[in-house]
Amino acid sequence: MNERKKHIMKEPMATPILQIKDLRIEFGNQLTPITVVKDFTLDLFAGEIVGIVGDSGTGKSVLAMTIAGLASDMKVKKSGEVLFAGKNLLDCPRDITRQYLGKDISIIFQEPMTALNPLKRIGWQIEESLRIHTDLDKEMRYKKVLAMLNEVELISPRRVYQQYPHELSGGMRQRVMIAMAMICTPKILIADEITTALDVIVTTQIMKLLTRLCEERKTAVLFISHDIDLVKRLCSRIVMMETR
Ligand SMILES: Nc1ncnc2c1ncn2[C@@H]1O[C@H](COP(=O)(O)OP(=O)(O)OP(=O)(O)O)[C@@H](O)[C@H]1O
Ligand SMILES: [Mg+2]
Repeated sequence: MNERKKHIMKEPMATPILQIKDLRIEFGNQLTPITVVKDFTLDLFAGEIVGIVGDSGTGKSVLAMTIAGLASDMKVKKSGEVLFAGKNLLDCPRDITRQYLGKDISIIFQEPMTALNPLKRIGWQIEESLRIHTDLDKEMRYKKVLAMLNEVELISPRRVYQQYPHELSGGMRQRVMIAMAMICTPKILIADEITTALDVIVTTQIMKLLTRLCEERKTAVLFISHDIDLVKRLCSRIVMMETR
């Protein structure tokens, strides 16, 4: 056996944390089905950032929602497998996928205002995942949220904790979304067009922040974007979604 082969065999085999196999997603009824995603296959490994690009309407957001378990209410037919933690998420009832959401799999969307509750303070909203997924008491949760606000580089975390979404800028709101998504240290983060509404400078800052946080936590990222240059700079691999 030559040296190189020996070296390869000594390396532990990495197991994907998420495996998508032959995923097909269809809307419409049996007579007129509309296939949005067809034969989509992807292995996602811990800590990597995979870019997902494609024209508008090629099913990127539907794919994101399906992985996050948020497509169960849609009148949609899914086949194939989305394997996470030994389970096919496509077969899991909603109460099981909800256990993963925010804890193991997080998702951030383009427009934070649609994801944030306008009537609740920022701190309360970031704490939500901790209330659902951990046994931490009130004081511990408060401390953790402040630390997270600090991590996403928001100045005056205590002040931001008390504020409402409309009191923040778009960039600040996206930092809040990142804090919400990362508070339970998920294994997978799905970022769906998160910088589309931001200017170039804020985009660069947000991406630097996201990459650092995910690298530190070995969180894998599915980075959906129209910005090919950004995707090329950021991602180790790029997957193209095509019109069906
Ligand atoms: N709830 C739904 N019911 C029926 N069709 C839907 C539904 N949600 C999405 N679609 C259709 O699925 C297709 C893919 O939509 P999707 O939002 O995933 O595209 P996208 O690739 O994210 O586009 P964009 O880049 O503009 O965000 C579109 O043709 C859309 O009309
Ligand atoms: Mg989309």
